Amino acid sequence: MTPLADALRTLTVDLGDRGYPIHIGTGLLSNPDAILPYLAGQQVMIVTNETIAPLYLETLAQQLPEELDVQTCILPDGEQYKTIEQVNRIWGALLEAGFNRRCTLIALGGGVIGDMAGYAAASYQRGVAFIQVPTTLLAQVDSSVGGKTGVNHPLGKNMVGAFWQPRAVLVDIDSLATLPDREMSAGLAEVIKYGLIRDEVFLSWLEANMEALRAHDARALAEAIARSCQIKADIVAEDETEQDVRALLNLGHTFGHAIEAHQGYGNWLHGEAIGAGMSMAATLSRRLGWIDDAALSRSLQVIESAGLPLKAPLGMQRDDFLGPMRRDKKNTGSRLRLVLLRELGDACISDETPISLLNDLLDHYPRA
Ligand code: NAD
Ligand code: GLY
Repeated sequence: MTPLADALRTLTVDLGDRGYPIHIGTGLLSNPDAILPYLAGQQVMIVTNETIAPLYLETLAQQLPEELDVQTCILPDGEQYKTIEQVNRIWGALLEAGFNRRCTLIALGGGVIGDMAGYAAASYQRGVAFIQVPTTLLAQVDSSVGGKTGVNHPLGKNMVGAFWQPRAVLVDIDSLATLPDREMSAGLAEVIKYGLIRDEVFLSWLEANMEALRAHDARALAEAIARSCQIKADIVAEDETEQDVRALLNLGHTFGHAIEAHQGYGNWLHGEAIGAGMSMAATLSRRLGWIDDAALSRSLQVIESAGLPLKAPLGMQRDDFLGPMRRDKKNTGSRLRLVLLRELGDACISDETPISLLNDLLDHYPRA
């Protein structure tokens, strides 16, 4: 695949004939060369939401030549709308437009839009092309890469979905200019995750550059996004369907998904729940004697410095955690599987936590 000349960096998700580029740069939304090579045919459906449409829809749509049949599907904004009903709206829009198997969906938005548009693409007429144009930091470093698509169910986060890879990921760093600070912090949770699970040098870099990242410094952001995407691309290439190593990307997610479900989807941001969840996983790793006090303290400090919560929600009881944790997709038998830290930059998946230790953590972990 020819790298896009205007991209600052191009990475590849190496999945053979389903492999694809991640272009990271500025001005990509207004560059037709960024998008046109990845369209499957003449029919294009841009899926976005009510917040992002006024900001970026016109810029993107203007890059598509008049001879194409371009339609838009604008969904309500929020994690509480990441549902099968909204995917049904996308399917309906595709059918009403008379779109066939050679259509392309473009997901313009954060992880919620990317996950839903991706699932609509995976299932419409048994699978059509889609392109990820992520506009949140979280989506740029994580959800747009790797092909996990789907929706929430009242009984569990991301419980219905499919693996379906995009044709390309176009990361336009300029789009982060309009992202609220709270959403930047949420995205930083997933960036910190990569340092904690795979790359202690990157973690040190994050400690040194957190202020610049929170101030939207373009060079720092490009570096953080590229390093995060490279780690994710490597892991996905090794284990696309999460039989093994990909589960490491769920550090903090077993606790975090329980927090999101308990608080009501959208009340705690996904990244905030992952921040608290990673703090709980690091604390448990310390109690198991795997990491030392200094490593725990560094983990908590970097999470806090990103503006993320360390404490679990007030009023959340042990069983509020354990219910969703027992339904976690990582579990294979009756034992809970957790992603824990052996040391900073080295995580593992373990089902060996004694239940008494887990119960003690869930009963006594600080709440706020
Ligand atoms: P989101 O999609 O809800 O976006 C956050 C908010 O920012 C929304 O209100 C959105 O409208 C707004 N927004 C988006 N781009 C903007 C911009 N450029 N300027 C101003 N506002 C903007 O949330 P998210 O944090 O992007 O994604 C969270 C979702 O991603 C969760 O559902 C989570 O489960 C999922 N996720 C999926 C994967 C995966 O591998 N598929 C990985 C991580 C997270
Ligand atoms: N965010 C977890 C994964 O993509 O596997």
